[in-house]
Amino acid sequence: MDQFALDALQLVTTRPRENYGTLAVAPLTPVLGAEISGLDLSKELTPDQQDEVKRAFLAHHVLVFRDQHLTTEDHKRFAALFGPLHPVALPAEGSDPYVLEISADSTSREIAGNGWHADGTADAEPSLGSMLHITRIPEPGSGGDTLFADMHLAYDLLSPALKSFLDSLTAVHDGARPWLLAGQTPPPEYDVPRAEHPVVVRHPETGRKLLFVNAPYTSRITQLSAAESTALLDLLYAHIARTPLLHCRVRWQPNTLVFWDNRCVQHHAVWDYYPHSRHGRRVAIDGTRPTAS
Ligand code: SIN
Repeated sequence: MDQFALDALQLVTTRPRENYGTLAVAPLTPVLGAEISGLDLSKELTPDQQDEVKRAFLAHHVLVFRDQHLTTEDHKRFAALFGPLHPVALPAEGSDPYVLEISADSTSREIAGNGWHADGTADAEPSLGSMLHITRIPEPGSGGDTLFADMHLAYDLLSPALKSFLDSLTAVHDGARPWLLAGQTPPPEYDVPRAEHPVVVRHPETGRKLLFVNAPYTSRITQLSAAESTALLDLLYAHIARTPLLHCRVRWQPNTLVFWDNRCVQHHAVWDYYPHSRHGRRVAIDGTRPTAS
């Protein structure tokens, strides 16, 4: 690894460990993700518990809570501790506008999130994060894991020269693109979002820089020619996909809830279980406009 990448990694792996009094935190990797135990999310959390979950979230970006038997109201109440709930983009008729059903079975021909992405980045204000509660895992008892990738370290590992070039760029994120990539057109009732965001943004709470482009939504780097934009985005996506130290992998059990920071993490749902079934519900939280400063 190049010296600048080793320096970047060392900064992450030697940061002081947070102390917790009301819950236990077991990191999934030195970079990303942690399992949290000692909490029952079906009950209201105390102010101390809430503060510690928030600290763990900013430190690890992906939090895994096992054995959580939750109603939809419990799920929404926990999410609401982090801000107003973020509405589902195209809610099914008669469904809760804040709850996205995530389901796949033998009739599925595609699943949600089967590729590296962040959620809804074509919105002017993409979501802060999502909480996915999986209640049914594929019948063989494994499969359907979710991968996560840390966009802070994805940026930090790049050379100083490339980082400084990326710092000067913005990119268009287009809500029609996921439909077009799937050979479809957005439904007429969908008010297709489109927004321009900096290619490198700062996390609104920690101020750390991160790479903010993703394959399904980012259509073009504004300041470059089409060919240059494609080449640079492909380089960044290959870096994200092919650098395992950026990644963690969550293996679901029934009644696991995972809360990820959509501002600084990409995720990828692995569809390795067809024709078996998997089911859960996702609730998202409102975010703010991504900014470079
Ligand atoms: C998604 O939010 O993209 C789906 C994640 C998953 O099903 O694991």
